[in-house]
Amino acid sequence: MKSILPGAPWLIAHKSMLGINQPHKIRLNGKDYVIWQNKQGEIAALNNICPHMQAPLSDGWICETRNTITCPFHALEFDSEGRLYREGKEDNNAIAETLELVVKEDLIWTYGGFEPKIPIPDLLEKVSEGYEFIGVTGEKSIQADFLSNILVNYDYNHQNGTHKELFRIESCRVSSFETNGYYAKVEQEAIRDKNSISEIIKNPALAIMPKVMNNILEYSFPAMTIFQAQSPIGQIIQTHILYPETEKQTKTFILMYVKSKNPLLKLLFKNAFLAAANTVVEQDTTAVESLYPREKAKIRLPGEEVMFHAEKLYQEW
Ligand code: FES
Ligand SMILES: [Fe+2]
Repeated sequence: MKSILPGAPWLIAHKSMLGINQPHKIRLNGKDYVIWQNKQGEIAALNNICPHMQAPLSDGWICETRNTITCPFHALEFDSEGRLYREGKEDNNAIAETLELVVKEDLIWTYGGFEPKIPIPDLLEKVSEGYEFIGVTGEKSIQADFLSNILVNYDYNHQNGTHKELFRIESCRVSSFETNGYYAKVEQEAIRDKNSISEIIKNPALAIMPKVMNNILEYSFPAMTIFQAQSPIGQIIQTHILYPETEKQTKTFILMYVKSKNPLLKLLFKNAFLAAANTVVEQDTTAVESLYPREKAKIRLPGEEVMFHAEKLYQEW
C-alpha cells in the first residue's frame, strides 16, 4: 500500500497497553510488527513476519530471561535486535527486521521506518504536567481511512448529530482558533441539555458534567488531539490518538489524565469517565464508518475553517 503521511511520528502505544513479556501485534501503514515489554520496561519491536517461513511472530512467546521471542511455527528464537538465538548464543547477524522506536517515558513512538519529517511532539508531556494518568480507553480499529477519522477531531459541528445521544450537546461554538505549523489550539463552548435519570444511571459521569462546557483542544498533527475539560472532580485530559493501520483502517485509543482536588470523587468517577470517553469513540466510529465517499460539500457550517486547516496539512504533507 501507499504509506499515509510518510515521515510522521506515530504514537503506537502507551506502555500500560503492552503487558509484561506478552507479544503485542501492531499494524502501521500496511506492515505488521510485534512489540513486547520486559520487566525492566524495555521495549523491543520486530517485523512480525518470521524470516524462516513467514509465521506471525506475535503468536509466539517471550523468554523472560533471554528477552527473546520464539516463533510459533518451528520455534526459532530471536532477540530484540532480530538475531537468531541458537545453542545458547546469539548469531552475529540480524535476520529479523527491527522497527526503530522512540520511547519517551510511557509513550512509544515510531516513524515506521521512514526518515523523520517532523520531530516527535512533546505537547502531551507539557499539557499533562501535574496530572495523573488514569488509563486507556476506546481502543479500536476503525474501518475508515485516516483522513476521515482525523477530520472528525477538527469538526465542531458533528456534536449536535453524532454525540446527540447521551451528551445532549445542543450547540457548540469555536471561540478562538490559532495555528502554528502542525500545532493548533481551539477554545470551544458547548451547551448541554439535561439528561434523563435513566441516562445518568447508565452513564454516571453525566451527573457531574456541567451544562456549559468550556473546553480547550490542542492538536499535534497528525497523531494527537488533546481535549481538556473542567469537571467537578477536577481537570481532565482526554488524548485522542490516531494512526493509519492500512489505507482503509485506522487505529485509535484514548489516554486519560486527571488532576483532582478530591481523591474520593476521583476514585468513584474514574471508571465512569473512561466509559464516557469510550462512548464518544463508539459514536465517532459509527459516524465515520457509515460515510459515503467524500465529495465537495455544497454547504458550509460555522467554524469549519479548523477542519479545512487539517485537511490542507494532510493534502500538502
Ligand atoms: S516460520 Fe518461524 S521458525 Fe519457521
Ligand atoms: Fe466526536
